[in-house]
Amino acid sequence: MPPLTSSEGVQQADFRFRCIQCGGLSDSARPDFCCSHCGDLLEITYPRWKEARPDAGNLKSIWGERRLSLSPVDISGVWRFRELLPALDPAPNLAHDDGQVITLREGNTPLYELPQCARITGVPRLLAKHQGMNPTGSFKDCGMTVAATFAQRAGFRWVACASTGNTSASMAAYAARGGLRSLVLVPEGKISWSKLSQALDYGAVTCQLRTDFDGCLRLLQELVRIAPVYQLNSINPFRLEGQKTLALESIEQLGWQPPDHIIVPGGNLGNSSAIGKALLEMRELGLISRLPRLSVIQAEGANALLRTLRETAGKRLVSVQAETRATAIRIGNPASWKKAVHVLEATGGACEQVSEIEIAQAKAEIGAEGIGCEPASAVTLAGLKKLVKQGFVKREETVVLVLTGNLLKDPDFTIEFHRGDLFKGSADEAASGALKPLRRAPIVLDATLDAVIRTLEQAERS
Ligand code: F0G
Repeated sequence: MPPLTSSEGVQQADFRFRCIQCGGLSDSARPDFCCSHCGDLLEITYPRWKEARPDAGNLKSIWGERRLSLSPVDISGVWRFRELLPALDPAPNLAHDDGQVITLREGNTPLYELPQCARITGVPRLLAKHQGMNPTGSFKDCGMTVAATFAQRAGFRWVACASTGNTSASMAAYAARGGLRSLVLVPEGKISWSKLSQALDYGAVTCQLRTDFDGCLRLLQELVRIAPVYQLNSINPFRLEGQKTLALESIEQLGWQPPDHIIVPGGNLGNSSAIGKALLEMRELGLISRLPRLSVIQAEGANALLRTLRETAGKRLVSVQAETRATAIRIGNPASWKKAVHVLEATGGACEQVSEIEIAQAKAEIGAEGIGCEPASAVTLAGLKKLVKQGFVKREETVVLVLTGNLLKDPDFTIEFHRGDLFKGSADEAASGALKPLRRAPIVLDATLDAVIRTLEQAERS
């Protein structure tokens, strides 16, 4: 494999850690990735850009050229943009360091048009960046390739995460590819079987803890302080650097013309922070001349960011006891809330919440486009409807929805929805009757030609 160097004329970025609260700079990070002075989160910064700013035109052409390369680092939709990622120093623990990265060829996800959802929302230029088309079926892979690579190069044998399912699936896969052992902490009974099965298949030591996601994360932070285990949650700033490429790739797919809005689901708020950081860096480097507004949508039952913004103007986190069937974002105490508040303010974005019924409806509407996503991703379409109603999104604007996870991540939700069981026994049962026209329950028939033809005729009339 060719070494991880850039083409002539573009410096690969070297980096430092910066505390988002006290601004303290450091060359190394504690195992819990918290600031050693004030305890807040760290981010990665590239001081060299101040002295030698990479040339935007040069970057665009190098990134374009790499699409013709056969080298794994160039094929990866993350490492292709490596000038905006932390540089890999020679690793003392690797005998033959040829700049190898742990990659499953992540990124390179499609930007789809959504003509039917465009009609429903009244926003004709509506696109979906489908991160569910990543190797393990979610956006997590884009961050994991970077953070797992750094874990390996730092000489760790074990990596670990707390998860609502997707992070654990992704971590387990990248750990396995890199020859690392992985430890997964998930809330018992609150993640989908698909995600759990991925972690098992990829060989993780999987612990179902009798707590929620927030409890799992608290425990993990304690663990990494006393055990030689590398933390792979999105508190780890290397994760966010990889997840920045979602924004780079989307805007490249739009011919470097930024959309007016990017709308993303909010859980632990790592992804929104990463996308926002990418947008700000792209503007700083002259890759775009104006910022899209980045908006975050939460489930009503897991609306910590929304309440933080409304009740404290973003000054103090309002934690909630999270409850939603969109289990990926069932998080009440989001770690990256300050980063998210910052990028919302910097890009002029909004934060909205959507109900369980609105999520189910939006998910069925996206599915009817032949695309499909998991429930957490569908909050974006549900949120867009509200933002259009409020006049925040204008009909003539271009909107990109970030679909974070694949439809197959949570088949139970989809099947219960179509069978009409999703809201049975809940306070939403009566109201969910309005969703009936979207339901396509499986039909059990005698195995006769006549029965099938009658069903076909009935469907044709409906
Ligand atoms: N969508 C999906 C499908 C997710 O899995 C997650 C988070 C989010 C949205 C929210 O992203 O946390 O960066 O704001 N899943 C994490 C996990 C927490 O453990 O898989 P966020």
